[in-house]
Amino acid sequence: MPNVTVIGAQWGDEGKGKVVDWLASRAEIVVRFQGGHNAGHTLVVGNETYKLSLLPSGLVRGKLGIIGNGVVIDPEALLAEIDKVHTQGLTVTPRTLRIAENASLILPLHPAIDRAREAARGARQIGTTGRGIGPAYEDKVARRAIRVADLAEPETVAAKLDELLLHHNTLLAGLGAATFDKQDLLDRLMALAPRIVPYAEPVWERLDEARRAGRRILFEGAQAVMLDVDHGTYPYVTSSNTVAATAASGSGLAPAAVGFVLGIAKAYSTRVGAGPFPTELTDATGKLLGDRGAEFGTVTGRRRRCGWFDAVLVRQAVKVGGIQGLALTKLDVLDGLSELKICTGYRINGERVRRLPAAPGAQAAAEPEYETIEGWEGSTRGARTYADLPAQAVKYVRRIEELVEAPVTLLSTSPERDDTILVRDPFED
Ligand code: IMP
Repeated sequence: MPNVTVIGAQWGDEGKGKVVDWLASRAEIVVRFQGGHNAGHTLVVGNETYKLSLLPSGLVRGKLGIIGNGVVIDPEALLAEIDKVHTQGLTVTPRTLRIAENASLILPLHPAIDRAREAARGARQIGTTGRGIGPAYEDKVARRAIRVADLAEPETVAAKLDELLLHHNTLLAGLGAATFDKQDLLDRLMALAPRIVPYAEPVWERLDEARRAGRRILFEGAQAVMLDVDHGTYPYVTSSNTVAATAASGSGLAPAAVGFVLGIAKAYSTRVGAGPFPTELTDATGKLLGDRGAEFGTVTGRRRRCGWFDAVLVRQAVKVGGIQGLALTKLDVLDGLSELKICTGYRINGERVRRLPAAPGAQAAAEPEYETIEGWEGSTRGARTYADLPAQAVKYVRRIEELVEAPVTLLSTSPERDDTILVRDPFED
């Protein structure tokens, strides 16, 4: 099976960009299958730094990019991203990018609702990216979304806008936010339609052909398992399924097409936005991890919360996400710490458990139980073989493998692409 699916094993921002970029250079097709422009990948190619939110990373490596049906697409944001990378010398055309005709659109009213609802939540805010992701998925499931293919049929768009506005203007007015005008929205959509429609096609057909021809497909996940709408720390999650199974349903392929599932995990934990975070450190060590790891959101610019590695959650992500191998990133951030902690279980109301329960009260009550491991003095930065690592660092990695019940098949030791210890090539599995 020559395909690889990459997903986040924590709460996102695990450093997927570097790993995906390396894998993309070895794939022929790169597919986004869920999420939207809430994701943020920074890719450094030569002297150029590309900040991608919606475009599949493979495009910067000259590979065919596909946006699958499971993605929610803000057409204005997509065109802005295409224009932006164009100024950096990367021309995206319908020859290099294909978009699922059955993908749902994010309309200007979706971020408006996202933000108005967050404001109304007050202290119970989810901390969304404010990009309309949740409201767009709601419309998809409610069967009133405007989809990519609809842009070729102005009358379909007009009729759907009636239904959408009946629903959303009522809500926006109730929340005290500005409402939307049908004609204005129709004009905006029809103005961009000629630029979007040429990219649209039934991508499942192209992917099916590629698969049968044995071409290497890389499925590029966004967000992470702990933000999965079913398996994550609900309701503090994103609105899509982020597990590997979604690579199939979100692109129109058979489950077997997903191939080797590589989960990305940081050597510690971070989270943006609100929600449970049992191993969070609000002390000087947490600050140190944040400073050293440059933990600021690519999309939001918000400071990420930091904490110890949570083997309970990553093990859970391995199981529900279908992860077969882990890429461990940012080990160098832990260099020089005298001791490290790994969460091996929680104590919840006196009981020891090895999973995060679903009920919010129990989640909030989860007290992490730690195993303490001696740190290392030397540097792991830039290591390219296990022999380059201090013995204690190897011990830390081995303990993680045991606790999460998955092998570390790739170890990233700096942001540089070549600073990687490759134990097993996911494409060769
Ligand atoms: P939404 O996806 O904008 O609805 O945001 C829901 C939650 O997911 C918030 O806590 C966001 O901070 C988080 N989130 C969404 N996208 C990402 C991402 O790419 N990395 C990390 N967190 C994300």
